[in-house]
Formats: sequence, C-alpha cells, structure tokens
Amino acid sequence: SHKHLCFFIVAVFLMMSKVCNPLTVTYVTALYGETIVIPCNDGAPVPQHLMFVKWKYEKDDGTPGDLLIKQARNEQATVQATDSYAQRVSIDDKFNLLITQASLKDQKTFTCMVVSHANLMEFPVSVLVYSKLNIDTKHYNNLGTCVAAEANPAATITWKKNGKALVDDGKAIVITPSLKLDPATGLSTTSSTLQYAATKEDVGAVFACVSTHRLTSQETELEPFPIHYPSEKVSLQVMSKGPVVEGDNVTLKCHADGNPPPSSFYFHLKGEKMLVQNSDTYTLNAISREAAGEYKCSLADNEKVEASQNILVSYLDLSLSPTGKVLKTVGDSLSVKMEKIASGDATVLWTKNGKAVKEPEFSKLSYADAGIFVCEVSLTGLTRHQSFELVVEGKPVITSLTEHSTGDAQHKVLTCEAEGVPEPSFQWSVNNTNEESSYINGKATHKITVIPRLNMTITCTVSNKLGEDVMTINVSSVFEEKNGKSGKNPQDDSKDQAKLIVGVVVGLLFAAAVVGLVYWLYIKNSRQGSWKTGEKEVGTSEESKKLEENNHTV
Ligand SMILES: *[C@@H]1O[C@H](CO)[C@@H](O)[C@H](O)[C@H]1NC(C)=O
Ligand SMILES: *[C@@H]1O[C@H](CO)[C@@H](O)[C@H](O)[C@H]1NC(C)=O
Ligand SMILES: *[C@@H]1O[C@H](CO)[C@@H](O)[C@H](O)[C@H]1NC(C)=O
Ligand SMILES: *[C@@H]1O[C@H](CO)[C@@H](O)[C@H](O)[C@H]1NC(C)=O
Repeated sequence: SHKHLCFFIVAVFLMMSKVCNPLTVTYVTALYGETIVIPCNDGAPVPQHLMFVKWKYEKDDGTPGDLLIKQARNEQATVQATDSYAQRVSIDDKFNLLITQASLKDQKTFTCMVVSHANLMEFPVSVLVYSKLNIDTKHYNNLGTCVAAEANPAATITWKKNGKALVDDGKAIVITPSLKLDPATGLSTTSSTLQYAATKEDVGAVFACVSTHRLTSQETELEPFPIHYPSEKVSLQVMSKGPVVEGDNVTLKCHADGNPPPSSFYFHLKGEKMLVQNSDTYTLNAISREAAGEYKCSLADNEKVEASQNILVSYLDLSLSPTGKVLKTVGDSLSVKMEKIASGDATVLWTKNGKAVKEPEFSKLSYADAGIFVCEVSLTGLTRHQSFELVVEGKPVITSLTEHSTGDAQHKVLTCEAEGVPEPSFQWSVNNTNEESSYINGKATHKITVIPRLNMTITCTVSNKLGEDVMTINVSSVFEEKNGKSGKNPQDDSKDQAKLIVGVVVGLLFAAAVVGLVYWLYIKNSRQGSWKTGEKEVGTSEESKKLEENNHTV
C-alpha cells in the first residue's frame, strides 16, 4: 500500500507536470546509422533576450552529461562533451542538436536548456532508434526461410499462402522462428522457417512471408517452389497429325499427372507388355491394319493407374484390270475391272486424259475411245492411283478423196482422208509436189498438188501394219481446158443462149404492150376531143390533121 501510494503520487505529479510544466518529454525517432535531428522546444523560436542554449543528456547512471553550448552572440558553439559524443554532436542555427551515426545506444533523453535574462527553460526529448527491415527469402524443396536482418525493434515474421495466414499445426505446417541479438549493435535478426507438406492443389500457390516491425510491414513473396506429389492419373495420347494410315510410324505418349513425372511406364500393346524407361513414348513402326485395336499405358510402379486408346488404322487397296498399255482393234470390246478394299467409304474418280469421266466400259471400241484412263480412289488421308493407256488400232479406211482447183489453172490439189491407227502411210499413183499431211486422233489427211497432162485416173493408197485401202479419182487434163475459147463448157453456153432468147422475147412483148396502150389511149381521147395543145406535138403533122378533122366531125 505504501508503494501504491508512492506510484499514485508520482502519477499525479507527472500528469500535473504535463499540464502546467514545460518539462514535457517529447519523442523523436531516427534511423540506425543516420543522423539524429533533435529539435529544441519543438523548433519554437527562442525568447527575446536569449543568453545561450545548452544541450545535455542523461547518462546511463542517471547523472547529467554536457554536450555543447551556444552563446547567443557567438556563431560558433562550444562542444563540452568529453566522451564519444564529442566527435558526433553539432548544433544548427535553429538550435537543433545533430548526432551523427545513430546507434541503439543513442536511445536516451536529451535536454535543450534555453537561458534568457528573464527565464531558464528545459525541453527534454527522448530518442528512439529503429533500423530498416532487410528481408531475405530462400526456399529449398518444401522449405521456406525468411530472414529479417539487423532490425530494431526486432521484426516479427508470419507466413501466408495465397494471402491467408498459415498457422503452425505441428503436422502439415511447421513454422520455426529464431531471433538473434547482436550485442555490439543491439540490432536483432529474426528468421523463420516454413515447412509445408504440399499437395497437388498447391500447384501455383503463392507463399509469402510478412515481416513486421514498428516502422514498416513488408510482404515478400517466395519464388514458387516445386511441389511434389504422386501421379494419380495417366493419359495415353496417340501422336498423329491426322488419321493413322497403314504404314505410318505411330508414337504413343503416356502422360502422368504427378510431379515430378514418372520416368518409366508400361505400354500394353495388344496383350504384350513393354517396360519403357527414361521415356514416356513408344513408337509402333510401320503400323499394319491388323495392328488396329486397343492400346494401354500404366505407371511402372502402379499398374492399376492406366489409360487406354483405341487406334484405328486406315487402309486402302486398289486393283485395276487392265493396267499399263492396252492395244485393241476398232470394234473390239473391253471390260474394265476395278476393285478396292478400304477401311471406310472411299470415293472413286475416273479421268480420261485429265478430264473427269464415268467409269469406262467399252462394248465396241472406236478410235475416239483411245486415251489415258486414271482411276483415283481416296479415303481421308489416303489416295491410290491406277491407270491404263488404251490404244485402239485398225486398218486404214479412206473416208474421202477429193479434187480442188487452185488459183492457177495448171495445178490441181487432191486431198485423201483416211482413218486408221497406227498412222497410215499414203501412196499416190502420180508424181506430185507440195505434200502436206496431218494426223490427229486417228484421222489422217494427205494433200498433194499435181499437173495432169492427160485425162487420168489417180489412185490414193493408204496402208499401215494392219492393212490397206485404195480409192481412185478421175482427173481431167489441164491442157484441154487451156485450149477452150472461153474457159466455159458448151453446156454453159447453151444456157446463156436460152437466157438471151427469153430476154429478147420478153423485151418484144413489152414493146408491143406499150404500143397497144398508147394506141388505146389515142383512140379514147380522139373520141372525147380533149387533147391538149402540148400533146398534139407528140403526134406527126398528118396525125394532127386527122385529129382536127375528127374533132370537126363530132
Ligand atoms: C518410320 O521409322 C523408320 C525408322 O524408325 C524410318 O526409316 C521410316 O522412314 C519411318 N517412316 C515414316 C513413314 O516416317
Ligand atoms: C514421174 O516422174 C519421173 C521423172 O521425174 C518419170 O520417170 C516417171 O515416169 C513419172 N511417173 C509417173 C507415174 O508419171
Ligand atoms: C478428156 O475428157 C473430156 C471429157 O471429160 C473429153 O472431151 C476429152 O476429149 C478428153 N481428152 C482426151 C485427151 O482424152
Ligand atoms: C473413170 O473413168 C473410167 C473410164 O475412163 C470409168 O470407167 C470410171 O468409172 C471412172 N471412175 C470414176 C470414179 O468416175
């Protein structure tokens, strides 16, 4: 009770002193290692008749220690300290006390004493020194360590996962803090180690350590650390760009969801089990249609964890009869047989000389049927071709033998046309010039120029290895025509004479009709007596007389 009373009195005294006494203790904070700035009387202006300002401090044993004194009239202050402060203290023109190289030992009360003619006032200030927070984080496997070095006051470290505080449960989460105090500087180093039993759900989780002390709270994220967990599922992938086609190399890939991924697997190849180590793939070389079916893979250390895939193998066989070069004779028949065996619905496309046609079938071959026939069968990802070249042969047949006149009457041009394969050769029974020939699609044309000196029968003979054909033409001599008078034949002349006769007869008839008409008009007018003077001149003087006589008689 005596003690309590004593505390009470002290408390009351302190309260009163706060209210009515300038002896109020204020605080300033400073950063470790930097300069402490301690204001005198909170930086209020000094009284008017100032004599001097003096700074002093309270030693650890409670006795006062002098630091420096500054006379009002002197620019320079006088350092009075004899201990380590002698080198570190100074005063500025606002009477702030400056102490360089702040350390934790400077956490004391410094007093500014202001002496004027009228008064003596003291302003004590307490100094607190903090240090910045230096955070360092590391992680090893499932361990995280966070270090807050050389802090004052000591930092506290807590852990967060995805923003939520982690609490040590002694099992899955173990947090081990430690604190070291450097006796020389008084600074503390706090560290904390997090042990965490990660699960698959923690993939991508963000772990952070939060270091807090009086000045700041700092949150530092750890580098994401690898989280190990066993595989629970596998999946089997068939590595193929499109549908698997017979003959392809097919790679199977087994993927497990654990971390780290397993290094060995079993591949089950239609009943056969293969262990694959240090790889997650297995390649089936040149897969056959029989190899289609179910494939599986499983974990080497847990065969119950397995996955399967059904592999479909596309295939397409095409056979065509006939193929290659096919020789046929005109009029023959040809049957084309195409067979396909495919894993699905295949589309068939026929072309002849590059143009789409129907499936060919020939009951009676003609030269026009000849060509290169291609059969293309396709299935997704697969195409097969087969082809044959059809050649239709036949002995040549002359289709026409004609004669044309040329501009100059001395020559005649003869054209012999024939159909036949292979290309027939032409022979003429007459000497000739200017041979011209063409052969297109089994049709051959041969043109010659001749000078027939006599009326003659000319023969065109066509032949190939299969036979020949002959045709003749009668050609009249060019010289006889030259001897003719008009170059026209007598038939033409008689036709012209007939025309002339008809023309003369028609002309005579017309003239007679005109005369008749005039006479009729004359008769008619003379009876009416209406001839006009101008028209009288038409007739002869004798006629005029007769007309006048007639008029008088009427
Ligand atoms: C399949 O693989 C073999 C060797 O492994 C190679 O010689 C062949 O060219 C491959 N075939 C295909 C279609 O890639
Ligand atoms: C073709 O001309 C030659 C001389 O150039 C001659 O000997 C031959 O009799 C002539 N043949 C015919 C069919 O006119
Ligand atoms: C040729 O034939 C024509 C009739 O077409 C005949 O008038 C002429 O006399 C003949 N010439 C010779 C030389 O035989
Ligand atoms: C060609 O003339 C002969 C007589 O000189 C005749 O027998 C034959 O029928 C004629 N041929 C043709 C195609 O006119």
